[in-house]
Amino acid sequence: MENKNTANGGDILARSPGRSYQELLDTEVNPVPDCLRENTNPYLGSENLSVDRYLSREFHEKEVEHVWKKTWQAVCRETEIARPGDTFVYDIVRFSIVVTRTQGGDLKAYKNACLHRGRQLVDENGNYENFRCPYHAFTWELDGEFTGAPCGWDFPHVEKEKFGLPGVKVDTWGGWVFINMDRGAPELRDYLGILPSHFERWKPENAYKMIHVEKVIPCNWKVGWEAFIESYHAIATHPQILKYTDDADSQYDVWGDHISRTITALGVPSFHLKNVSHQEVADTMFGVSAMVARPTEAEVPQGMTAREYIGQRNSEAFSQNHDRELASFATNSERMDSILYSIFPNFAPWAGFHPNITYRFRPNGDDHTTALMEVMVLCQLPTGAERPADVPVRRLGDNELFSEAPELGESLGGIFDQDLFNMPKIQKGMHNVESRELVLSNYHEVRIRHFHQTLDKYINGEI
Ligand SMILES: [Fe+2]
Repeated sequence: MENKNTANGGDILARSPGRSYQELLDTEVNPVPDCLRENTNPYLGSENLSVDRYLSREFHEKEVEHVWKKTWQAVCRETEIARPGDTFVYDIVRFSIVVTRTQGGDLKAYKNACLHRGRQLVDENGNYENFRCPYHAFTWELDGEFTGAPCGWDFPHVEKEKFGLPGVKVDTWGGWVFINMDRGAPELRDYLGILPSHFERWKPENAYKMIHVEKVIPCNWKVGWEAFIESYHAIATHPQILKYTDDADSQYDVWGDHISRTITALGVPSFHLKNVSHQEVADTMFGVSAMVARPTEAEVPQGMTAREYIGQRNSEAFSQNHDRELASFATNSERMDSILYSIFPNFAPWAGFHPNITYRFRPNGDDHTTALMEVMVLCQLPTGAERPADVPVRRLGDNELFSEAPELGESLGGIFDQDLFNMPKIQKGMHNVESRELVLSNYHEVRIRHFHQTLDKYINGEI
């Protein structure tokens, strides 16, 4: 592919001169898992990106047809629909899907419509004995079988056996329920590629959802999504985290069409800063980061790095959430770093042994100018331990900030507020880009390229 980058002498493999994540892994005491040693070192071209992808209704319609109807999308936790009749409604653009647990314990997903006059069959999440349309009482069993309607004599032309609810594909990974409206889609396991093997060690299926906050954001859904798949913006948007975040030396990976990853080392200062002491790193991280224990006294012992010290404190704080003492096997990276995977198109789970953030972005209903942003935090528990109930979603109002959600607070919520502050200004600014093209970096923004290349493959029918 032609390299158009001349600012750095045309070097498509240029990297920050700071210590790489892989070099940092060389300092680990415990064995480093193979998945963290993977370094795909991607280069996907230097092409510009049209602003029409974010602004035009036409592009949104293509996404509806070729992306939302064709891809696997996470709906809820398996534990949120654990009992027979537990039902979740997943709305995506103009579509709605009902996911339920049958009497036999199977998961089923249906298009959310009564087959009589088309009314949405289920309005909200809850526990249902069966699905009875509120309009005329046409009723289906949880397993999709039609049980009848009032004045059945008036429908001699409806064959009961052929009037079952049309199903859509449903499957699970990592304790999440996924659906796919395309009956010809690949199985979830194949779609996820390397992801399940990478997460085997972190056991996301053992986690419960301890935080779930949603907000309507005033921008195209991809503007939101793309603010979370690179660490390049930290220097300007989140300056308070730089003392403990090595943003410039982040590692970016892509695998196949659907999976990508950023790993940003924490507990070490940004390469952009000079002369930050270990004590300053620890103090700032303990004071600001959500991915860290909160000790009352935090003096970094003589001869220890901030990263080693934070690793030790996190091991003490989070070992109770796992089957074994973290000090005995977990790397420092898995005790504190930002290890953020994404599954095309819109689901991004963090990895590691600390409580893990998970993001989801989607259009706000069928509106391509606003989006739903969700922040969840999952906390693992030892295998077989009783799990607290998953929390329901807290929906923030238009004037409420993430930091005003008490479960996020000023530290974590404040970071999302900083991202949120940019979003409407990105949406507005894009209308004024004279060339109508956005410029992306080769490495830091490679996941955005990867995402758009996959998007194009779906739109062009290549996947
Ligand atoms: Fe951010």
